[in-house]
Amino acid sequence: MSELRFEAAAPDGPAALPADWRRIHNLIIPTAPLSAADVRERAGRNRLVVAYLGATAVGCSTVRPPAGNPAAATVIARILPEFRRRGHGHRLYQHALATAREMGADEIDTVVLAANADGLIFARHHGFVEIERYVLPGDTIPFVDLRLAVKKPDGGPDRGPHPAGPPGPPG
Ligand SMILES: CC(C)(COP(=O)(O)OP(=O)(O)OC[C@H]1O[C@@H](n2cnc3c(N)ncnc32)[C@H](O)[C@@H]1OP(=O)(O)O)[C@@H](O)C(=O)NCCC(=O)NCCS
Repeated sequence: MSELRFEAAAPDGPAALPADWRRIHNLIIPTAPLSAADVRERAGRNRLVVAYLGATAVGCSTVRPPAGNPAAATVIARILPEFRRRGHGHRLYQHALATAREMGADEIDTVVLAANADGLIFARHHGFVEIERYVLPGDTIPFVDLRLAVKKPDGGPDRGPHPAGPPGPPG
């Protein structure tokens, strides 16, 4: 099995990358599908990455840059169901977490569709605690906002809810 490879889906990059990112996002979050234009717009303000095994796109991630005080970034990893439980999610999450830290994040949030049992287990396993559940207008399945409760590698303090508010729905 080849190594997992990470490629940024940048607005000015090859069109296949945002297309792969979008396909994986929409398969995993069918209740909030994104159009190609939505993905282009998000690629301009967030760091979107596609994870490949050889030529096969197996996952995608989103890092929303830090905002607020303390600076909270949102990190979301997604792996297609048929490629799960092989450590790919952990590697993709670590890659996204490193990006968020490089961007200056003091806090890390994530958001999981409540129907994604694997996502909730994974997030809790990685030290996230639930802070809020909400149903978007027109939806029936709640999103769950979670915050990383463990200390930063440099020993920074644990903090409660940040003034910028919860991370909001995925994408
Ligand atoms: C979350 C997600 C990315 C995990 O992908 P993955 O490739 O299966 O993750 P890994 O194989 O690296 O799992 C790492 C650990 O998380 C835990 N874990 C993950 N899924 C689990 C499950 N269904 N049941 C129990 N433990 C689980 C395990 O401890 C696992 O280690 P192990 O397999 O050695 O026991 C994937 O399930 C997914 O895309 N879910 C939907 C999207 C989502 O909700 N993302 C938010 C998370 S930030």
